[in-house]
Parts: sequence; C-alpha cells; structure tokens
Amino acid sequence: MLTFKSGNVDNSMKIATIIGARPQFVKAAVISKALSHAGHEEILVNTGQHYDENMARIFFEEMGIPKPDYDLGVGSGTHASQTAGALVGIEEILLKEKPDYIIVFGDTNATVAGALAAAKLHIKIAHIEAGLRSYNRAMPEEINRIVTDVLSDLLFVPTQVASDNLSKEGITSGIHIVGDVMVDSLMTYTEVAEQKSRILDDLNLEKEKFLLMTIHRPSNADHDDRLLSILKEVSNINLPVIFPVHPRSRARVEKLISQTSGDIRIIEPVGYLDMMLLEKYSKVIITDSGGVQKEAYLHMTPCLTVRGETEWVETVEDGWNYLVGNQLKKISQLAYDFPEPKRWKHHYGDGHASDKVVQLLEKNLT
Ligand code: UD1
Ligand code: UDP
Repeated sequence: MLTFKSGNVDNSMKIATIIGARPQFVKAAVISKALSHAGHEEILVNTGQHYDENMARIFFEEMGIPKPDYDLGVGSGTHASQTAGALVGIEEILLKEKPDYIIVFGDTNATVAGALAAAKLHIKIAHIEAGLRSYNRAMPEEINRIVTDVLSDLLFVPTQVASDNLSKEGITSGIHIVGDVMVDSLMTYTEVAEQKSRILDDLNLEKEKFLLMTIHRPSNADHDDRLLSILKEVSNINLPVIFPVHPRSRARVEKLISQTSGDIRIIEPVGYLDMMLLEKYSKVIITDSGGVQKEAYLHMTPCLTVRGETEWVETVEDGWNYLVGNQLKKISQLAYDFPEPKRWKHHYGDGHASDKVVQLLEKNLT
C-alpha cells in the first residue's frame, strides 16, 4: 500500500543546511529529521569549525544527524579565516547544487558565511533563531546575528521579543514566530538520555547534589585573571562542580586549576545525552553559554550566567536566571540560596518548531 509523507512531495524542495559548530549540530538534528520526514532533499554542509570527537562526531552519532554531503574542514583560526574559508566553500557548493533555500542557524561564523554566500547568488535564506540580540557588539556573535538577519528572507524567531528586536532594526517582513528548535531537541533527547546515559553513575553524582559549569566566551575564557577569579569563586562551593571544558580554554584551565581548592572536576566536553542529564539534575548551573542558559530554564534548573547581559531575557524576567556580570561573589552565595523563581512559561514553544519551519518553507516557496 502506498503511504504519503506529511509534506507536499509534489512540491519537494532542495535545501542546503549549513552547520559547523556544536550548537548547530544540536539544532540541525531536529531540522534534518523534519525535512526528511516531509520528503525534501537536504544537502548538509559542515564547515568543520568544530572538529574534536566530543565537539562534533559524538553529536552526529547520538542524535542521528546524517553524514554531511560536504565537509569544508575550515577548522580553527581567526574570525576572518574561518568566515572566509566557509564563504568560499559554501559559494562553490551553492553554485553546483542550486538549492531552493539555504538554512543557517544561530550566530556563528558558519551562519554569517552561509548567509553572505547565498545572498549574492539570490538564493533564499532562512535563518533559524533569528532576532536574538545581546546589544553587546563586543561579542562576535552579535555581529553575525545582525548581518545574517539583514540578509535573510525568512526569519524564524523563537519569541515575540526576538520579533520586536527585528522590528526595531526596520526588519518587518518574513518574520515567523515558530518557537525554538532547541526545545524540540531537548524534549526528544532527554527521554533518550534517561534510558541511555550513565553519566551520573560514572561521575558518582547524586541528583541535585552537584553543580554543572560551562565557560567558553572569550571575555571569560581568554584572560588568566578573569578565569582564575571565576574558578576561585566556584571552588568556594561546597559541592562537586562538574566542568566539561571547551577546548578554547583547556590549556588555560589546566594551568590555573592548581591555584584553586574545592571540588571542581575538569572533564572533556560531554555528548548531548550526558549533557541533558547533567543539566536536569544539577542543583544550579553556572554558564556563559547561550544555549545552556535556555536549556537550564527548560529543565527548570536555576542558572547563574557569568555575563552582564543575555539574549534570553525571559529566563531572567521569570527568576530562573541571574546575571552575575562582574559580581563574582554572587556565584557562591546564590549557588546555595537561589531565590524562588517567579514563574515558568512555554516562552520557547511546544517542541514542534522544526515542523513549523518546514511547513513555512513549503508555503513560501515561489
Ligand atoms: C564558537 C562560536 C560561538 C559558540 C561556540 C559554541 C563563533 C564566532 N563562535 O566559539 O558562538 O558559542 O562556538 O561552542 O563562531 N577548538 C578545538 N577543537 C575544536 C573546536 C575548537 O581545539 O573542535 C579550539 C581551538 O583552539 C580554537 C578555539 O577552540 O581556536 C575556539 O574555537 P572557535 O570555533 O574559533 O570558537 P568557539 O569559542 O568554539
Ligand atoms: N553541550 C554539550 N556538551 C557540552 C557543552 C555543551 O552537549 O559539554 C551542548 C549544550 O547542551 C547546547 C549546545 O551544546 O545544546 C551548545 O552549547 P555551546 O555552549 O557550545 O554554544 P552556545 O549556545 O553558547 O552558542
């Protein structure tokens, strides 16, 4: 018997999806599934910005992301070299493949390279996680977001706040509030993690009797003084602190950690399944990651953000996220005594953002 897939197969689309860094693997996992389920052809392009086993391959394996059609291997380097390498490689692929759309995610150098290459070739650009702003242009990601949003035809924003941010910059068409694809990932894979991950046993952790920490923003991770101050403050916490170290700061953390006491456990970056359980069962999360702040909210785990501002303003307004900024003393104080959050809402959608994205791509194909 013939069965039909949910998408409009007669109107099937060819989509080039650009990924390259860890947060994009997490987002692409659910979009690739939604595209494939609706019968569309996806050309997956990995710029290769992240390449260590635990920064890349583990996500493909655990989350069932298809093998990329193209690997550009841009690797590490300056912003210009990473962006330029990706730009040249993506342009060549777009000329050959002639997709109906390019999809770019978030705010990395792969995102802006993809958008720029497509715009000059008049290929429609769909930006997933559009409209986010920190209003801090010292962050390379803020530059990538602004440029990508200006160039995009379809702007898939997670929230009304993100939509309003775009309006303030004069971008008023092509905006669709679809929720956040990271909710789709989190809902799908936390269930899998509960079955498969052994991380709590492996690290000998009791639920809510440990803290999770991730630090990788250049403003925190690239300066000895700042990073040491953070580590010293965290070492005042009288609970194990699990710290999967981003390769950006590996050498610096290894050098500085001997100057701290306390129970900070330095480990390799973990895969997404282990990460979901560490986030869910951490007493409080300490982070400067965008995605981890949001995931903390979704898991209902209080979060201390080691930054002065955030794109994910709802998490702060609802009382689940506290911006530590330069008041590092707050870390050990609030780790023990986090104020009761005010409320929790489905700000970021219901876990069906990726299906909505695919439907809107189909509808807007002309
Ligand atoms: C990038 C993104 C950032 C995102 C982060 C997610 C940009 C501008 N930044 O920052 O928005 O939050 O990814 O994790 O795109 N390295 C390795 N192995 C790897 C990857 C990186 O050793 O697999 C080391 C290299 O020394 C490299 C450094 O980490 O120079 C920084 O990596 P890079 O990709 O340039 O920036 P991220 O800090 O990862
Ligand atoms: N993540 C992970 N293992 C880690 C650290 C992060 O699986 O050791 C996941 C995290 O849960 C999130 C994603 O990686 O889904 C992106 O986080 P990252 O902090 O790298 O980037 P950002 O969101 O700040 O751009």
